[in-house]
Amino acid sequence: MAENAPTVTETWATRWTFILAASGSAIGLGNIWKFPFITGENGGGAFVLVYLLCIAMVGIPIMMSEVLIGRHARHNPITAMGQLARESGASRLWGGVGWMGVLAGIMILSFYSVVAGWSLDYTVELFAGNFNGMSSDEVGVAFGEGLLQDVTKLTIWHTVFMVLTAIVVALGIHKGLENSVKLMMPALFVLLLAMLVYSATQTGHFGQGFNYLFDFDFSKLSWNAVLSAMGHAFFTLSLGMCAIMAYGAYMPKQASIGGTVITVAVLDTLVALIAGLVIFPIVFANGMEPSAGPGLLFVSLTSAFAQLPGGQFVGGVFFLLVSIAALSSSISLIEPSAAWVTERFNMGRVGAVTLLSLIVWVFGIACLLSLNVWSGAEYQLFGMGVFDLFDFLTANIMLPLGGMLIAIFAGWVMKRSVVLNELALKSLVRFNLWRSMVRVISPLAVFVVFVMTLYQKFS
Ligand code: PFF
Ligand code: NA
Repeated sequence: MAENAPTVTETWATRWTFILAASGSAIGLGNIWKFPFITGENGGGAFVLVYLLCIAMVGIPIMMSEVLIGRHARHNPITAMGQLARESGASRLWGGVGWMGVLAGIMILSFYSVVAGWSLDYTVELFAGNFNGMSSDEVGVAFGEGLLQDVTKLTIWHTVFMVLTAIVVALGIHKGLENSVKLMMPALFVLLLAMLVYSATQTGHFGQGFNYLFDFDFSKLSWNAVLSAMGHAFFTLSLGMCAIMAYGAYMPKQASIGGTVITVAVLDTLVALIAGLVIFPIVFANGMEPSAGPGLLFVSLTSAFAQLPGGQFVGGVFFLLVSIAALSSSISLIEPSAAWVTERFNMGRVGAVTLLSLIVWVFGIACLLSLNVWSGAEYQLFGMGVFDLFDFLTANIMLPLGGMLIAIFAGWVMKRSVVLNELALKSLVRFNLWRSMVRVISPLAVFVVFVMTLYQKFS
């Protein structure tokens, strides 16, 4: 039986490796690709403010809950939730939260890998100088009518990215996850800061980009936008699908959960804001609209690189950065299910990862086909193809729902004494603050946003 399986004994080498791995998971396409384009779609400032509020009020308390559950149980998420529920005299059905997480991870990775594939393609194309001198219309055509219609190319890059992901995860937490993030995260920070210096000094539109992100105009804010902001807070922090819980299972006992989690959340938020400060000034400097949607990076930003002297290198470096960020996240999308299959079926890590990657690969093909061959209405549900549907269902529904249940679990189901001991916060005031967040504020916030969005939709 899974409950009697030996607990995880391997742990991250130090608290800092956990921070690197968790920020590697958090910082990804969500920050560099998704945050700028959904901010653009939702009109800027006010959306950003709601997103920041969600990070502080909902994200941080729930991330602490995930880490503490993972570390206390030292099992994969499905086993962890089931076992802790039994220990607390609650229903084993709580294991279902782990199940939903595994499913969400597979769904997210299938479209995530496709976008990471675009980014790999752009890294190569930019360095090769293929965009040099193109007008923005031409860049738009190269993306929308070129890459997105080219099933072979999309498939090749999606496959390359899945193979890279599978190799890292199959190598295990020390050789694979730990070593790769130690290399990738510092590289990412250096590249991003270089881009920031460029945007601040060379575009001449830094102020406009800054104002776009931080001018709060609430008249544009619908409940739907609030739902997107909240959903994105979960997505960007890798919350609600037990990825951070799976990483928490390897966290050394003496490391402080509160401080660690706050560090990760702050790093993730900084990277998103810096990405915005890099991208919007470049977009404005080229007279383009910030509301371009998923193509913002691949069209607006790329047209700027196409026109810029030396843009082929700046751009190549930029997309290399995006690819690295994507890889350090994709490994955490598979980790919960990989840990579960390994533990539950007593399977080797390589076998488990191969199996899961194949499943994700197939779903990924469905996602990329929904951009071209299956783009017709007959292949859509609620007006969305597979790609958009997976994105919408995971970010706006499954992650907030999973996060809400995790908060309720840590706040109401687990014994107060167990949680108090595991968190080991410096003062009781902090503990009570955290506990009132996960018991009341965070679940209520998610609930209210769900209900109000539905209400607004049907009234
Ligand atoms: N946090 C990642 C990003 O912002 O790109 C995406 C992600 C990774 C979501 C892992 C969920 C997850 F479990
Ligand atoms: Na993120």
